[in-house]
Amino acid sequence: MIDDMVRTYHHITIINDASFLIGSDDSILKAGLNKGVPFCCECGGRARCSTCRILVVEGEENLSETNTAEKNMQKYFELPRNVRLACQTYVKGGAVRIKRIMNDESDYPLYLRNKIIKDENIGKEMRLCLLFLDIRNFTPFVEHNLAFDVIHVVRKMFYHFEEIIREHGGKIVETAGDGLYAAFGFEDTTKESANKTVSCVKEMFKELKRLNELYFKKYFKQEIEIGVGAHLGKVAAGDLLLQGNPHQLVMGYPVNVAARIQDLTKKLNNSFIVSKDVYELLEERPRAANSLENLKGVEEPFLLYLLGEQFNYQKGLPSR
Ligand code: FES
Repeated sequence: MIDDMVRTYHHITIINDASFLIGSDDSILKAGLNKGVPFCCECGGRARCSTCRILVVEGEENLSETNTAEKNMQKYFELPRNVRLACQTYVKGGAVRIKRIMNDESDYPLYLRNKIIKDENIGKEMRLCLLFLDIRNFTPFVEHNLAFDVIHVVRKMFYHFEEIIREHGGKIVETAGDGLYAAFGFEDTTKESANKTVSCVKEMFKELKRLNELYFKKYFKQEIEIGVGAHLGKVAAGDLLLQGNPHQLVMGYPVNVAARIQDLTKKLNNSFIVSKDVYELLEERPRAANSLENLKGVEEPFLLYLLGEQFNYQKGLPSR
């Protein structure tokens, strides 16, 4: 009853989409989505993306004040005053006419898909531990073996790795030929995810050793080596619905850092490298050499800890 007395309704037109009455306590995003307007809203309305941008065509004076999150976004993208975030903007006075900015013909199918992803996991900010793995010296292996044998070896190895990753609370986000990218900590604290990532990698090295001895060396005259890099940080995690199946997405700056750390395993000739952020959360910190490194495309240098071993192929030992 009291709510109804405080709440006022105003007319809003979302040009090319819909026209309706909006309650003063509903953000334009929320009201628009309820009316079936296919707003993009990757962060779920928390001012952590900029995909719900709107252009205010009329009635700017009838909108709520720009809040700090919006001001930061306007500054970052150098947006004019009449570009607002629909998730942060309320209609407080008379009529308003706005236009969605980030729109194209895929909006409606995407909007409908997002609606049917069960837990509405279209984007959540999380602190995750990220792992990149790459098979070393893969090109010569491909050159000297039949394509289907190569697929068999990768499949076999990744099958076992996937199991180990899952047992440690991780998920494979992507595989690409000779590499994979996994994230840990969906159900764990940051500290747990760092510890589980490191013990997962140890298990993977053990498993690889077993496969090398029992299988790869025996049948392919080849020892497989891997390089692994890990880092943790705040990322956006969500689902992407492809052919009706949800695929895990994890994106953000820490992902690039983890990938760059993995790249450095070659230069530093060490099979497993973690950032200081991961190392400092480990319950049992192994004695390890460290190195302050500039990562490609990353502004500040990173202190890295070398937890693995030298590669055999870099030691000059024959791998076949
Ligand atoms: S939905 Fe992400 S900023 Fe509005």
